[in-house]
Amino acid sequence: MEAQVGEGKILITRGDITKETTAAIVNAVNESLLGGGGVDGAIHRAGGPEILEECRKIGGCKTGDAVITTGGNLKAKYVIHTVGPIWRGGTRGEPERLASCYRRSLAIASERGIRSIAFPSISTGAYRYPIEQASRIAVEEVAGFLEHHREVEEVHFVLFSENDFEMYARTMKETLKRR
Ligand code: APR
Repeated sequence: MEAQVGEGKILITRGDITKETTAAIVNAVNESLLGGGGVDGAIHRAGGPEILEECRKIGGCKTGDAVITTGGNLKAKYVIHTVGPIWRGGTRGEPERLASCYRRSLAIASERGIRSIAFPSISTGAYRYPIEQASRIAVEEVAGFLEHHREVEEVHFVLFSENDFEMYARTMKETLKRR
C-alpha cells in the first residue's frame, strides 16, 4: 500500500526490515543500546558486530530519543536506533514518547541527507504498546513530517505480521482521509 503525502511517499509492506534497501532502517531498542530480542536481535544478527561496537561507544539513549550507527553488513547504509516507551496503561507519557521516537528518527535522517527510511512498529512487541494506538501515532507523525520537510522522500513501514500490516493499512487510509 502506498500514499503520496506532500512531496513524499509512505509505503506499507509486510516483511523483514533487515532486508530493506532504504538508506536507513530504524531499530526498536532499549536505553542500554546493547541489544535484545525482536527486531533488535534480528538487526544485529543480520548487520554484524560493527553495529553493536558503535552502540557501545555511544553508551546509551533516552526513551523517545534516537541515535545513528552504520548499517554494517545490511543493505541499508545506516541504522537509526530509537527507544520506544514501555506501555504502562497510556497515562505515563507513552503517546508523547512514542511520537518523539518517530520525530527524532526522521530529524536525524534529514540531518544526514538520508532520503529513504524504513520503520518497524516501535514499542508494539516486547514493550506491549497497543497496535491500533501505536499505528495512529506512527502514521500521524510520519505524515506530519513529510508535509513540512522535503529531505526525506520515502518512508516505509515494514510490518512483521499480517495482523499488524492490516492495522497499519487501515490506519493509513483513515488518517490520510482526515488530513
Ligand atoms: N522486521 C520487522 N519487524 C520485526 C522484525 C523484523 N525482522 N522482528 C520483529 N519485528 C516486529 C515485532 O513483531 C513487533 O511488531 O517489531 C515490532 C516491535 O517489537 P520489538 O522488537 O519487541 O520492539 P519493542 O516492542 O519496541 O521492544 C523493545 O525489545 O528486543 C528488545 O532490545 C529491545 O528491549 C528492547 C525491546
